Amino acid sequence: MREPVLPQSVKIVEVGPRDGLQNESSIVPSATKVELVRRLVAAGVRWIEAASFVSPKWVPQMADGAQVLRDIERKEGVVFSALVPNLKGLDAALAARCGEVAVFAAASETFSRKNINCSIAESIDRFAPVVEKALAAGVRVRGYVSCVLGCPFEGDVDTDHVAAVAARLYRMGCYEISLGDTIGTGTPVKTRRMIDACAKDVPVAALAGHFHDTWGMATANVYAALQTGISTFDSSVSGIGGCPYSPGATGNVATEDVVYLCHELGIATGIELAALIDAGSFISNALSRTTSSSVARASRAREVRRASV
Ligand code: HMG
Ligand code: MG
Repeated sequence: MREPVLPQSVKIVEVGPRDGLQNESSIVPSATKVELVRRLVAAGVRWIEAASFVSPKWVPQMADGAQVLRDIERKEGVVFSALVPNLKGLDAALAARCGEVAVFAAASETFSRKNINCSIAESIDRFAPVVEKALAAGVRVRGYVSCVLGCPFEGDVDTDHVAAVAARLYRMGCYEISLGDTIGTGTPVKTRRMIDACAKDVPVAALAGHFHDTWGMATANVYAALQTGISTFDSSVSGIGGCPYSPGATGNVATEDVVYLCHELGIATGIELAALIDAGSFISNALSRTTSSSVARASRAREVRRASV
């Protein structure tokens, strides 16, 4: 069998401080978020989605975005980004010196209404001036498409529909389109089909995979996506998170697991796994829970075994 051609390096977008912490039932102190970001940067992470500037009534956990971005220690070469649903959010993100922003659409009408209180078409109309103003300010924009492999309310989602929304965001000026398996029901074959559909209108180099791990398929989906040529992945340290408007969905694929997979495949990430595992332990302890990263668990168990010999 011919080996698939895999990329030599990947870009990992750490979304733990945003996607990971937006769904917590109790408010995580800003200082904890800032310390998490510091540890992620120390581990070599270069793209960090640190906040979202959305309505604090809708997502109270993200209400401290301005403070988090103010207190983060900036480092040359590290991009700190935030989600923005409208111009009000963009203005707040620009004031907070975000290096990038992200608009977020969906491939499911019901999810779009539940998440951002408007139809997909209305959201696209709303994003156009956001993208224009961000680009005029010299800030690059990512575009998310949610529910690319299933919707918590509508079930199956048509891949042509996903591809159409991805293409609209790309044509609007988003430099990268992150394809979100919001509820984590995707499997490798479905993942490949969906990416192939999107790649007809958006260059594969401009596509990113954003897999939630609800059904335990996220690393398999990352591998399937790597085989299509995708080389950008969103993940959250320790696998924290979920979306408040996606009932039942769990966190993103753990960054530790993606980094381990890539390193074992000979793909560079620029991230030091041991330091990343420490960052994951920090946030797991702060949230009083065990890590969702299999790699972090196995690594710790091996350390304990070695120490007891
Ligand atoms: P709305 O109620 O239709 O908006 O919400 P509105 O324009 O009528 O404003 C209502 C109130 O919100 C007003 O305040 C506005 O000022 C305020 P009031 O007058 O009542 O005091 N407001 C804002 N405040 C701060 N920042 C803003 C902002 N905009 C309005 N930017 C809206 C529409 C989009 C604002 C709302 O639905 C919302 O904030 N939704 C956010 C939902 C969200 O953050 N979801 C999670 C992120 S998406 C995700 O996790 C998926 C992803 O990970 C990919 C994947 O996994 O698929 C990205
Ligand atoms: Mg997500």
